[in-house]
Amino acid sequence: MKNLQTTYLGLKLRNPLIAGSCGLTNSISHLKTLASGGIGAVVVKSLFEEHIQVDTEKVIKSEEGGIKTLTRSSDRLFARRIHDQEEAYAYIYDFAKRNTLEKYLDFLREAKRSVEIPVIASVNCVSNNDWHSFAKKIQGTGVDALELNIFILPSDWQRAPEENEKAYFDIIKEVRSYVDIPIAVKIGYYFSSLAQTVIRLSEGPIEGMVLFNRPYNIDFDIDKLEVSHGAVLSSAEEYNHTLRWISILSGQVKCDLSASTGVHDHKSFIKQLLAGATTVQIASVLYREGFDVIPVILRNTEEWMTLHNFESVDEFRGKLSRKSFENPAVLERVQFMKYYSGIE
Ligand SMILES: Cc1cc2nc3c(=O)[nH]c(=O)nc-3n(C[C@H](O)[C@H](O)[C@H](O)COP(=O)(O)O)c2cc1C
Repeated sequence: MKNLQTTYLGLKLRNPLIAGSCGLTNSISHLKTLASGGIGAVVVKSLFEEHIQVDTEKVIKSEEGGIKTLTRSSDRLFARRIHDQEEAYAYIYDFAKRNTLEKYLDFLREAKRSVEIPVIASVNCVSNNDWHSFAKKIQGTGVDALELNIFILPSDWQRAPEENEKAYFDIIKEVRSYVDIPIAVKIGYYFSSLAQTVIRLSEGPIEGMVLFNRPYNIDFDIDKLEVSHGAVLSSAEEYNHTLRWISILSGQVKCDLSASTGVHDHKSFIKQLLAGATTVQIASVLYREGFDVIPVILRNTEEWMTLHNFESVDEFRGKLSRKSFENPAVLERVQFMKYYSGIE
């Protein structure tokens, strides 16, 4: 038996393989299967700011035939008596918001009761609007940490880069004012200076960063002349992008790094650790191959460690990180010229 133990966000994990936030971390039975399969920790499905909005819209739309979504009769009576539309909207909005959150909080409490491994809650947010106090309630459920998935697509041409970036710092500051549990921030890669932004974020009041969120990809259907979408699940070829940035940043940041996107087998799992990742998250491969992939990845990793005489993950973590290179861009430029200019 090899020692795969890892400390991530100050939490003790039996190994660095984490089930990333996705539809498969949304049920207690799945969490139990993930835990019994050997996973190191789970990030539960996110509470989305937008989910709260959608729930609110449902409540408003059903209003014609009575406010069907309000279950308690006192709630219905109260809403009907309100003549002022704005006040009714505010009441219903608050009701919907409370209910969405309550369900999520119940789920987190049950998750904590059901598995022994660390449970990380997740909030997917895009703005600094009125949701941070939820974080305190999330902490109250007993979860071990909170992952904030902040993904602001810089598509607004009127918004300066500094404004977009400031939003990340503002959100973190607000959330930190409500909670003491460890925070990991999951980001995308659309920053004008990715390396500097990651390093500055890592110096803030957080314990870890997850690189990267995989953006929704658009596509076109040329037969229907319609906009469609790209693959929801990643492919095994997509790990290189994260590998580059984990290897560039792992020696520079002031917090843990969790690698995410495109890890489908023990090889890419080991590569992310060699690049310096503290932990590695998987989602798509769980959909593609089922939960049995977890013991396979862990077993193959142990076999690889035996082959290379490593007893613990700490012995090889970061061995191939680029921290020793002053300017990785120069190295990449040379490699690019070497490999691409020769192809005719
Ligand atoms: C079906 C599905 C649902 C997801 N839901 C969430 C989510 O709620 N919150 C989140 O932060 N990431 C979510 N993700 C993104 C994953 O956590 C992960 O970052 C991404 O899929 C890349 O990792 P992978 O290549 O291992 O799939 C979801 C991914 C999938 C495939």
